[in-house]
Amino acid sequence: MTDNRQWLIEGNPRGRALLLKDFREASETLALLGPGEVRVKVEVLSFEPSQKGQLEVISGYSAGATKGEVMGARGIGEVLESRDNQFKVGDKVIGQLGWQEFATLPGKDLQVLPNDKMLTLYLGPLGAQGLTAYFGLLRIGKPEVGDTVMVSGAAGAVGSVVGQIARINGCRVIGSAGGAEKARWLKEIGFDGSIDYKSEKVKERLKELAPNGINVFFDNVGGPVLNDVLVRIASHARIVICGAISRYERETLPAGPANYFNVVFRQAKIEGFLLRGYEAEYEKAIERLKSWIVNGQIIHREDVQRGFENIPSTLKRLFEGANIGKQLLRL
Ligand SMILES: NC(=O)c1ccc[n+]([C@@H]2O[C@H](COP(=O)([O-])OP(=O)(O)OC[C@H]3O[C@@H](n4cnc5c(N)ncnc54)[C@H](OP(=O)(O)O)[C@@H]3O)[C@@H](O)[C@H]2O)c1
Repeated sequence: MTDNRQWLIEGNPRGRALLLKDFREASETLALLGPGEVRVKVEVLSFEPSQKGQLEVISGYSAGATKGEVMGARGIGEVLESRDNQFKVGDKVIGQLGWQEFATLPGKDLQVLPNDKMLTLYLGPLGAQGLTAYFGLLRIGKPEVGDTVMVSGAAGAVGSVVGQIARINGCRVIGSAGGAEKARWLKEIGFDGSIDYKSEKVKERLKELAPNGINVFFDNVGGPVLNDVLVRIASHARIVICGAISRYERETLPAGPANYFNVVFRQAKIEGFLLRGYEAEYEKAIERLKSWIVNGQIIHREDVQRGFENIPSTLKRLFEGANIGKQLLRL
């Protein structure tokens, strides 16, 4: 009988930073597979800011979870055993595998992936983050050739893809991120300008980098950066609210952006984005994202941590700004 090590939900970090003690290590003995079930050896886990929301049981954003459950996470693994004839031993699959060494799921909740060098990209630029960037920018931001597009959280999984899609669409691209190393990397992957929001004055840098204003702002962080961008929006700007990570650990919600009335003066539009609802178009979007990656128009970076014991601390990295590119962990 094989043991399965797992990380279970222990705490509710609502209104505060994540703590390692929000998770508890446990072990179970694997049961025999039931009809239709597939056993997967978990190989790579994906980390996303919404996982904190999952612990906080916020309805409407991510599915709620309860104390004592295995922490949910998307991941990729290899089929070890199968009682669903759509899956064979050795297949690489993707699904909600969770923070554990072995996942046992009904076959309908898993999808077989091609076992090639693009495998882990399905947890990043060919997965939810790439699709969020694609639909959020193209459908809500509606960039036009010659526009200036600004992205916050630009060195992260979503933000780095947003900036590169904007460039492919003929825009000038500016990104903000925390730290000089991230700002340098943005230049390397083709951003026209980058702002280290931790050490530079965002408002002043925007005046230099976007003298004619910002036509599209793709916001992943909210807070002071959003407020500073509102000063420099161009006429008929489109502001895509994708995320607001600057408030995910706060006890009390910050006041709304003081500069919001510029939305009126500039006849701008602020619109929230959720990936939900675009499922019918995923296949086509993934094909386009894949072709941009293959021909070098989108450069992808993974930040890969290692080891079962480091799973909880890897989720914290997102909120500490420690990751560059897509945060993954290999078991
Ligand atoms: N609406 C949707 O459907 C949807 C779907 C997916 C993701 N999202 C949102 O998209 C955003 C990015 O997600 P991701 O998976 O790509 O994560 P990510 O950007 O790879 O990682 C999170 C990044 O957020 C930044 N950050 C952390 N705390 C911050 C703070 N207090 N102020 C400013 N920046 C902070 C850090 O970068 P720095 O070092 O630059 O601070 C960190 O690296 C999140 O807000 C997420 O909730 C929305």
